[in-house]
This record gives sequence, structure tokens and C-alpha cells, in this order.
Amino acid sequence: MLHNLQNFSLLRMLSIHIVGTAMYQGVHPPPSSDPDPTVKLAHLQNLRLVSAFLPEKILRFYASLVLPTTATVDLRFRGGSTNTRYQECGPLINTIQGIDNATLLLSRACGTVSVHSADGKLRLAWELGNTANNSIAFSAITFPALQRLTVSIPVDPTEPNDRRERRDLPDYNAEWEAEISALLHPIPAVTSLTIDCSLRNRYALFNIIGRKLNSTTPFVLPNLSSITISDFDNHTRSAMQLLFCARARAKDGIPLTSLEVRMAPGAVFPKDTLARLESAVGTVTVHQDDW
Ligand SMILES: *[C@@H]1O[C@H](CO)[C@@H](O)[C@H](O)[C@H]1NC(C)=O
Ligand SMILES: *[C@@H]1O[C@H](CO)[C@@H](O)[C@H](O)[C@H]1NC(C)=O
Ligand SMILES: *[C@@H]1O[C@H](CO)[C@@H](O)[C@H](O)[C@H]1NC(C)=O
Ligand SMILES: *[C@@H]1O[C@H](CO)[C@@H](O)[C@H](O)[C@H]1NC(C)=O
Ligand SMILES: *[C@@H]1O[C@H](CO)[C@@H](O)[C@H](O)[C@H]1NC(C)=O
Repeated sequence: MLHNLQNFSLLRMLSIHIVGTAMYQGVHPPPSSDPDPTVKLAHLQNLRLVSAFLPEKILRFYASLVLPTTATVDLRFRGGSTNTRYQECGPLINTIQGIDNATLLLSRACGTVSVHSADGKLRLAWELGNTANNSIAFSAITFPALQRLTVSIPVDPTEPNDRRERRDLPDYNAEWEAEISALLHPIPAVTSLTIDCSLRNRYALFNIIGRKLNSTTPFVLPNLSSITISDFDNHTRSAMQLLFCARARAKDGIPLTSLEVRMAPGAVFPKDTLARLESAVGTVTVHQDDW
């Protein structure tokens, strides 16, 4: 395949679907430690690689390409979740390793996890139909430079409407929290987090970020210093949960230095909680209609 591509050096758009089967997984030969020969595609503008069950093929192939810096890259992984198969190729992927600002988009209903770099050039998607398996596959690619992360978890259409059910306490869902937590572990360099989530998912994130794990790895996102939250509701529990999260980290010697909260239209941050939050966080900024 690579050899043939060398003859198409004027290609502007390339989309390859690499298809394997679930059965192939058990018998795949160990990958050779030699990198594939490089192929220079100096005119390529759009690359899309989709694999079913053969994630390592995509990663090796991608690592062997030399593309213009303007090219956009879209890698999709479907099926095949054992993380060792990604790990064999992880270190080859310098472009991925260099991402410093990105959005992590989760859809529980679709069972997908994707990462979009802020410059729009790179998109990675794990479409395994199962969030637990996505976490396993995701954790095999590391993001050592990723300092600015946006976590986006839209409302799950199978759950009750967030705004209508605003008075309800968000459900505590230990399994879902564990899955989100597993996704955040491989991104330890994050210093700045933007939370763009539905009420229930925001609540889950505060639980995860503010929970002490154990003595060796006390918190996920250990270097987190700044949080921005959009569309914040005036649910007392949400403000309290945020306060618990900020206090837990401050108590452990890793306080947030800045917190920026943008309230939903008409919503007002509870004043007493705000005063307590200000004593646990360096700078708190609340944007709301009446201020
Ligand atoms: C990071 O990406 C977000 C979302 O695309 C953007 O709003 C923000 O300005 C970026 N930050 C930096 C420092 O580039
Ligand atoms: C999830 O992973 C398990 C093994 O870890 C596997 O049996 C199952 O088929 C996977 N599910 C999907 C949807 O890939
Ligand atoms: C966390 O911050 C410290 C101090 O700036 C730095 O040495 C360390 O490498 C950072 N950790 C990660 C995972 O980036
Ligand atoms: C602490 O938690 C981390 C993350 O869950 C885990 O990888 C590690 O093994 C745990 N360490 C101990 C001593 O339990
Ligand atoms: C909460 O916000 C809604 C609008 O989002 C508003 O109608 C309601 O009056 C607010 N309640 C309080 C106690 O601020």
C-alpha cells in the first residue's frame, strides 16, 4: 500500500478504510519494530483513516506519512480495544504527542470518545460503541503536551431533560464516573480545564476532579490550576459540589488559582457559597446578568 502511494504524490485528499475482523485480533502477528518507510505527500490537504479492529495499522501508517503542516487529519478507530495494540505504536505518533490545546468530546449514548485539536487540524475518534472499551483504547495514546483541555459532554438524550429536571439531584452513577475518570488519567499535563457539560455530567466531573484517589496518585489532573465553566445553573447542589471540589484540592496543597464561572441566562450564583469559594480559590470570577 505504501509503495503504491509514492506514485500518487499529487494527492490532495486521501481516505482509507482498513478493515479487519474481530477474529483476526487473536492471531495478529507481532508488529515489526522497524518503522514503515516514509511516504511524502506534499499536496495532501485532507487525510482520513478509518480502521475496524486494526488500530495499530492506522497508527503505523499515519506515523510513516510526511504531510504538509496545513493538512487536516481524521483518524477513527472502530472495534479492537486491547490497549497493548495501540501502545505498540503510540511513541511513533509525534503529531498527537504535540497537541497542547484540545477538546475531549464524550457521547455516552453513542459510546464514542473523540479528541479535536483546537487548531482544527487533528481529530481522533474512538467509535467502539462502548464507553468502557473506549477508555481502555484511549489510554494507550498519551498526550504529554496537552495543557488546555475542554471537556464537552452533551445531554444524553436517553436521560431526563436537564433543564426541566433542574430541581432533581443529578443521579450518582459510579460506573459512568469511573469511565470519565479513566479518560482523564492519560492527560496528566492539563493545567487549564474548560467544562462544557450538561448538569449531570458537570456534577460527575466535580466529583472526579475533587476526589482523592490514593497516596500515590492523589487526584486526576494533578497539575490543574484553572477551571472555566460555562452555562452554570443556580442549583444549590452544583455550587456546593464545586466548593467541595475546590476545597479538597486546596486542602491537599494543589489549590485552583483561578475559577471562571459563566452563569446560564437569568441564573445567579448563590452568594454564601461564593464567599466560601473565594477563600478556597485564588481568583473567582462570576459572569451573571445582574452584575
Ligand atoms: C484553546 O482552545 C480553545 C477552544 O478552541 C480556545 O477558545 C482557546 O483560546 C485556546 N487557547 C489557547 C491558549 O490557544
Ligand atoms: C469490549 O471489550 C471486551 C473485552 O475487553 C470485548 O469482549 C467486547 O466485545 C468489547 N466490546 C466492543 C463493543 O468492542
Ligand atoms: C506538573 O507540573 C510540574 C511543575 O510545573 C512539572 O514538573 C510536571 O512535569 C507536570 N506534570 C505533567 C504530567 O505534566
Ligand atoms: C492509585 O490510583 C491510580 C489511578 O487509579 C492507580 O493507577 C494506582 O495503581 C493506584 N495506586 C495504589 C497504590 O493503589
Ligand atoms: C434560577 O435560574 C432561573 C433561570 O435559569 C431563574 O428563573 C430562577 O429565578 C433562578 N432562581 C434563583 C433562586 O436564583
